[in-house]
Amino acid sequence: MEALKQRILNDGMALNETVLKVDSFLNHGVDAHLMYNIGTEFKKYFENHGVTKIFTIESSGIAPTVMTAMQMNLPMVTLKKQASKILKGDVYQTTVHSFTKATDYELTLSKKYISEDDHILIIDDFLANGEAALGAIRLVEEAGAKVAGIGIVIEKSFQPGRQLLIDKGYDVYSLARVSKLGEGIIEFIEE
Ligand code: G4P
Ligand code: NA
Ligand code: NA
Repeated sequence: MEALKQRILNDGMALNETVLKVDSFLNHGVDAHLMYNIGTEFKKYFENHGVTKIFTIESSGIAPTVMTAMQMNLPMVTLKKQASKILKGDVYQTTVHSFTKATDYELTLSKKYISEDDHILIIDDFLANGEAALGAIRLVEEAGAKVAGIGIVIEKSFQPGRQLLIDKGYDVYSLARVSKLGEGIIEFIEE
């Protein structure tokens, strides 16, 4: 997505060789027009994939996902992160380890928001090691539902997440694929 790549080049900043700061339009400040256009792109790619619901993970996945859900006219569910293993009623839960943030959390989905007939599109802001996406996939499949695809706003292609998901047979569509980060360096995979 050309407009997204331009925005990353103009307003993003590589903090080091692995972390891209995009606080001014995605993770802190949120550019609603850009989020809307991101929704249009995800719709174009996924509209014939039989999607019945869209899932994301709190919190930065919510803005692009709500714009996608609106344009695809589909229900949306935000997976919650809980600090500990306290079971709160009828939920599916799985432990996710974040390498970037060096923490574990319990990804949580209420059973009432999924059925085995669902085909779930999972959308998130970043794909790094793929742990969050794999956690979301575990919840969907534990419910007996299917993963229709994975939509990512910014993929860090030099980290293992994408290949892991592709190797497991999932359809991964990323709007910006970053091949390299460094001091003053942001490079993309040209497609
Ligand atoms: P993974 O799921 O692909 O394994 O990623 P990882 O655990 O490493 O990422 C943990 C958190 O860090 C996620 O946010 C993810 O969006 C964010 N993240 C990963 N790489 C980058 C990056 O280069 N730049 C920025 N800005 N964020 C990155 P989170 O803590 O789970 O939630 P939230 O920020 O959405 O609330
Ligand atoms: Na995220
Ligand atoms: Na994030």
